[in-house]
Amino acid sequence: MAQWRGVEARVLTTTPAHPTGAADLPEVRELAERKAAMSDAGFTMPYFQVHDGVAGATTHIGGREFINFSSYNYLGFAGDPAVNRAAMDAVLSYGTSASASRVASGERPLHAELEHALADFLGCGGALATVSGHSINVSLIGHLFGPEDLVVHDSLAHDSIITGARLSGARRLAFPHSDLTALDALLAVERPKARRVLIAVEGVYSMDGDLAPLPGIVAIKKRHGAMLLVDEAHSLGVLGATGAGAGEHFGVERGDVDLWMGTLSKTLASCGGYVAGDAALIDYLKFTMPGFVYSVGLSPANAAAAIAALHLLQSKPDLPRRLRERADFFRENCRMKGVDIGLSAGSAVVPCITGSSIRALRLAQTLGAEGVNVQPIFYPAVEEGRARLRFFITAAHTEEQLSRTAVLLGREVALFNEHRVEVGS
Ligand SMILES: Cc1ncc(COP(=O)(O)O)c(C=O)c1O
Repeated sequence: MAQWRGVEARVLTTTPAHPTGAADLPEVRELAERKAAMSDAGFTMPYFQVHDGVAGATTHIGGREFINFSSYNYLGFAGDPAVNRAAMDAVLSYGTSASASRVASGERPLHAELEHALADFLGCGGALATVSGHSINVSLIGHLFGPEDLVVHDSLAHDSIITGARLSGARRLAFPHSDLTALDALLAVERPKARRVLIAVEGVYSMDGDLAPLPGIVAIKKRHGAMLLVDEAHSLGVLGATGAGAGEHFGVERGDVDLWMGTLSKTLASCGGYVAGDAALIDYLKFTMPGFVYSVGLSPANAAAAIAALHLLQSKPDLPRRLRERADFFRENCRMKGVDIGLSAGSAVVPCITGSSIRALRLAQTLGAEGVNVQPIFYPAVEEGRARLRFFITAAHTEEQLSRTAVLLGREVALFNEHRVEVGS
């Protein structure tokens, strides 16, 4: 019941001693109980809300307009006419599916065009694009690392990294968040025991909105002969003078990071994942990585949308800076109103830490009633006791939208703090 602490669970009928069907599995029943408890406590389901139209700085839910902080549409490219047109043209030329794995008859010109464009933009020898950002981390880590190896990841790393490490069969150790001393000490002890070591970090941490200290991590990786994966899901298009991500921001040599992983679903306004790096490694992955070889090629529309979005990014080099300025503006306004934004700095992800899950839920609902859409996040997506609202800032948010939201947030947080609204925290 960790997600809904403070809410009493409704006791369902007895659990069979030997579950026979999928619906009897304890975890399946537990979720049903949790949802029932939430509903009994008067909360509306905050997930799976249906949005009408394109979600950006604003969105429409149930016929009502909201200021929206729940989209990955950082630079407004999802819904941009040029991106829409590229996707539509691709459908007209190639249909809606690649209809096969790329290795076996699914290859279309758009695939190589996208991969060349990504590799060029990032300054890497090659890139490989697949149908999902999450699954590329799982498949990539699972493919390159095995039982003789060690995967060391930041304690706040995304589920896709942790799941990939878990399924790879490698030993998996977490180091305290961005603690370089701890990482160095851990590798001094553990490195000699493993065939290969992967250090996995995020350019921008997706739940906390802070940046991995990349230069220090690169130095440690070199010192211990480890490989390094940087997940750029929330840094591509956000960090760096041209939006080329964490490497550009920190001036890190491209070749010093082995696996520049990213997703097409955020700045690039599409759906899919990529990994960029050394040309020979990318070629090896193309012929061997299960999540690529045994999976359908990226749909033509998704490939075309990502190419068009990447071109837009290159033709509008001011946008990433504007996005960062908007996020700084929001951070500053939140701080002035006494809102705890945790570690957030330099990125477009700004949490409002509530601690308790119930507080996060109530706060999200109160803001919803005021016309602000923001998602509450609980354990296990974040540590127990570190529930939060997570605000994704976009370049299209206006200062008026941001300051109005910070005022509302500050007012509600102050009410909670005065215990005027007592909740099961
Ligand atoms: C850090 C990080 N990595 C990977 C992913 C997975 O990307 P996708 O949603 O495109 O599958 C996400 C998704 O939010 C993420 O935040």
